[in-house]
Parts: sequence; C-alpha cells; structure tokens
Amino acid sequence: MSTTGKVIKCKAAVAWEDGKPLTIEEVEVAPPQEHEVRIKIVATGVCHTDLHFLYTSHRKGGFPCILGHEGAGIVESVGPGVTKFKPGDKVIPVFVSQCGECKNCRSPRSNLCDNSWWSKQQYDGKTEPLGRITCKGRRIIQFEGLGTFAEYSIVYEIAVAKIDDDAPLDKVCLLGCGVSTGYGAALNSAKVQPGSTCAVFGLGAVGLAAVMGCQAAGASRIIAVDINKDKSSKAKEFGATDFVNPNDHDKPIQEVLSSLTDGGVDYSFECVGNVELMVSALEACNKSWGVSVIVGWNNTEMLSVSPVQMIGGRRWTGTVFGGWKSVESVPKLVADYMAKRIKLDEFITHTLPLEGVNDAFDLMTAGKSIRTILKM
Ligand SMILES: NC(=O)c1ccc[n+]([C@@H]2O[C@H](COP(=O)([O-])OP(=O)(O)OC[C@H]3O[C@@H](n4cnc5c(N)ncnc54)[C@H](O)[C@@H]3O)[C@@H](O)[C@H]2O)c1
Ligand SMILES: [Zn+2]
Ligand SMILES: [Zn+2]
Repeated sequence: MSTTGKVIKCKAAVAWEDGKPLTIEEVEVAPPQEHEVRIKIVATGVCHTDLHFLYTSHRKGGFPCILGHEGAGIVESVGPGVTKFKPGDKVIPVFVSQCGECKNCRSPRSNLCDNSWWSKQQYDGKTEPLGRITCKGRRIIQFEGLGTFAEYSIVYEIAVAKIDDDAPLDKVCLLGCGVSTGYGAALNSAKVQPGSTCAVFGLGAVGLAAVMGCQAAGASRIIAVDINKDKSSKAKEFGATDFVNPNDHDKPIQEVLSSLTDGGVDYSFECVGNVELMVSALEACNKSWGVSVIVGWNNTEMLSVSPVQMIGGRRWTGTVFGGWKSVESVPKLVADYMAKRIKLDEFITHTLPLEGVNDAFDLMTAGKSIRTILKM
C-alpha cells in the first residue's frame, strides 16, 4: 500500500531533555511539502556531535528533538516542485545544504550555504525546521535539519545527495558526516602538500578520516595523538606513521611534537572539540607556515592564545563538513568508496538496532567504539 500523501507513523529515538537517555517513540511524519523529500532512513551513524548537543545544548527550545545527522536512505515520496528525486532513489541527507544559488554556493572558496537549515527560521521563528514530525501531539525538532535516528525523515531537497543505486547504505551513511569531514579537512581545508608532516589530535571517526586524508594527500609523516592508547593500532591502519599519547609525557604535547619534528608540524587537526587542545594543536605547528584546522565542535567555550603565536605567519582555520560542497561531492565520495579509494568499513566497530542508540552513546563515551551504525 502506497504511503504517498499520507502521514507515516513510525519509530524514532526522541531526546526530550538535556542529558537524558533517548526514548523510542511512535512519531507521525507528515507528507512532504514544497521542495521537501521524505526519506526512509535505512542506516545512520552516531557522531560525537549528537552527544554534544544532547549534553550541552544551550539552545532555547532545543527539545524535544530527533538527533542523528549521518544517515542514508531511500526516497519514499517528494513534495511539489521537487524534480531531482523520485521514490526509490538512494540518498544521503546532508547537514550542510547546497542550493547552488546563494553567495556561498556560488563561491569556490566556501562549502557553506545561506539556505541551510540554520538560516531557515520557519514557523514560530524560534526552532529549527521542518516541523513536519510530531510525537504525542508535540512538534519534534529535527537536529541539523535532518533527524536520522528515525525510520522516516523529511528534508529540504537542497540538503539531499543522490547516490549510486548499488551503494551499501549501512556503510556510506558515514559519508553524511564524520568521514567526509575528517577526510576533507586534510584535502580541502588544510590542502596538505605531498611530503609534509601532519599531526591529528583525537582518533574517533573524524580524526581517523583526517589521517586517511593526510595519507591520500601524500604526507610523509602523520603523527596520531590520543589519550586512549587503544587507538594506536587503528591509527596505523589508516596511515599514521607515529602514535603519541600525551599522558606518556611530562611536557605539554605541543612541545613533544615540536621536538619530534624539528620545530613543529606543517599541518595539525584538532578532532576532539577541546579548546585547550585547539591551542596545543596550533602551537604544535611550525611557527612560520604551520596551518592548524579546528574540526572538533565546541560552541560553549572561548579560545585564548597569545598573538605572538600567530605573528610569524602560523594560521588557524576551521572546517564544516570537510569543506565539501555537499550535494555535488557526496556522490563522488560514495564512488570513491565503491572503487576502494577510501575506507569506510574499517570505521565501523558496532552495528545495533535503533533501540541501541543509548548504548551507542555509552560505547563512544567509554572509548570502545569508532563508529556504531544503527540499522532501522
Ligand atoms: N567540523 C565538523 O563539521 C564536524 C563534523 C563531525 C564531527 N565534528 C566534531 O569532531 C569531533 C570528533 O568527533 P568524533 O565523532 O570523531 O568523536 P569521538 O568521540 O569518536 O572521538 C574523539 C577522540 O578524541 C580523543 N580525545 C579526547 N580528549 C583528548 C585529548 N585531550 N587529547 C587527545 N585526544 C583526545 C578520544 O579518546 C577519542 O578517541 C567532535 O567534537 C565532533 O562534534 C565536527
Ligand atoms: Zn557529525
Ligand atoms: Zn546555497
């Protein structure tokens, strides 16, 4: 029986308040309206940003919410005006849209989009779009405009990437956030040069993907840094040449790296979201030409650094989604995976049903997983 044009009742993991475990609920997903696409989510990764927002969301009206932004699925139906997608298409919804028309989309220097969910203050002007999902009569916010911890979601068409019909959705969902972000941080945001020396701080999926990107760019030395010693072998599998645990040293980590590399690395990547570590990552770079990329997310604390650290020419930059223009790049990244040019399977340490979402958070917090995939 076709569901087109009808409200779909399905399961979703709902976050009702700060820091509380998610609960599995029946939600109602309205039919897509103009320029919207309703997607049957098949699989989703669990990213640290989901956990970050569950525990530190200071946003007013941030709950109730369906978290999850690393999903892949199949188009169920499309709203009026949607021409690029049809039911049955395999897709990855993306948290950075690409409308193709705004100032950012038109510039080759940016992958942001002025029409992303954060710009679209629909309905009451306070909360995130789309407002198409309800639970127990309450409207549910879709985290990052997506909300993939659900059997169905509804997304703006400018935030949907159509991918290869043969792509395994329970693997390529990782290209919806973590892997694309780390990989692109090295290739697009830092533009790592062949023969260079890199340091990657934090070896979750994002950091390991940054290691993979440094290797793809031809870096000759890639120093992986993590306080969890168990990450060492995984980092080497992704191309790291060295592993340093800051806890094994008396000196600050930037001094350790500086002495290991004759004055600092060419590129560093902070993939944790810790402001002190961001400063360490900056100071671990060569003081004249080093480039440090902020990849980890932190919207609650401030950075503090002496101008002397920058005056010699060292640069600080950041990345959202690895600098990829999402809609056009995600299908290419999927093709790269299908052609075995990039790894994905190696990031997946656990697979659970949607009901296991809180366990996935626990595994992440305990440092036992790289990525957990939830299969609907
Ligand atoms: N910029 C973006 O677009 C973007 C996209 C995805 C994720 N993120 C952010 O990237 C970060 C990493 O995400 P993830 O899913 O890989 O997280 P994760 O929790 O899987 O991995 C974090 C790693 O950092 C390590 N770590 C913690 N403190 C450390 C320290 N002081 N020194 C060295 N290592 C330390 C942990 O042991 C762990 O291995 C998060 O902040 C997330 O919000 C940003
Ligand atoms: Zn993410
Ligand atoms: Zn745009």
